[in-house]
Amino acid sequence: MTISAAELSAAAPAPIGVFDSGLGGLSVLREIVAKLPQQRYVYVADSGHCPYGGKSQDQIIARAVTITDFLLARGAGLIVVACNTATIAAVEYLRATYSVNFVGMEPAVKPAVALTHSGVVGVLATGAALAGDKLLRLIDQHAGGVRVITQPCPGLVEQIERGELATAATRALVRRYVEPLLAAGADVIVLGCTHYPFLRRLIGEIVGPQVRVLDTGEAVARRVASFVNEAPSADVRATAIDWYSSGDPSQMRDVGAALWGSPINVAALPKE
Ligand code: DGL
Repeated sequence: MTISAAELSAAAPAPIGVFDSGLGGLSVLREIVAKLPQQRYVYVADSGHCPYGGKSQDQIIARAVTITDFLLARGAGLIVVACNTATIAAVEYLRATYSVNFVGMEPAVKPAVALTHSGVVGVLATGAALAGDKLLRLIDQHAGGVRVITQPCPGLVEQIERGELATAATRALVRRYVEPLLAAGADVIVLGCTHYPFLRRLIGEIVGPQVRVLDTGEAVARRVASFVNEAPSADVRATAIDWYSSGDPSQMRDVGAALWGSPINVAALPKE
């Protein structure tokens, strides 16, 4: 059951802020909530500015600053940048600018390199994530003798924002992006965008059971848990989440509820 964070007492601990360019961050939030069910959360979907994948670094930093200011005004004590693209473009700027702690995403290149038998790993990510050198540095750092192939996936985030997780159009896009990786011999595929875990079933059908598909949600949840003192309790109270969208709240209410697995109440992110 989900209740509004506002329904809890003002004396409750500071909420955890979580944001993404849209609904992809829900794949991270569900892992965090599984580990920390007693926290209050404020989730911002920047769907009015989605996708970030085609934006410049300056544009993404500007959005990250606007959302961070909003989350801090809501009392956030920790902020999770539940978006690989925003992490790559903006997390260093955010850490240098604000005193609150930020937890960012890091694609699972290191575990993928440890798992591959074929010596070839594929990374699916957005164009902007691949444009910066942060991901390339991560690959250089961990690849060793393994060949790591990156694949930009334009259009995929938009399909997920529309809730099209298994339509013919989504299937065709996924096929187009994973086939070159399979042809090169990849036996591990890294999901380098937080939207893509919602396509895990479809990707699994296309790549087959012999190919491992990795995401980072659980690892990020562990990192978040390292900042939060939550004692395991038999008396687990309902998780409290306030949802905001810079896009159409009713669209997020529909698609977000389907992705989240239960109804959500979404408010419009106040215009700055
Ligand atoms: N969920 C974002 C990520 O992890 C998607 C970026 C976009 O909006 O293109 O990269």
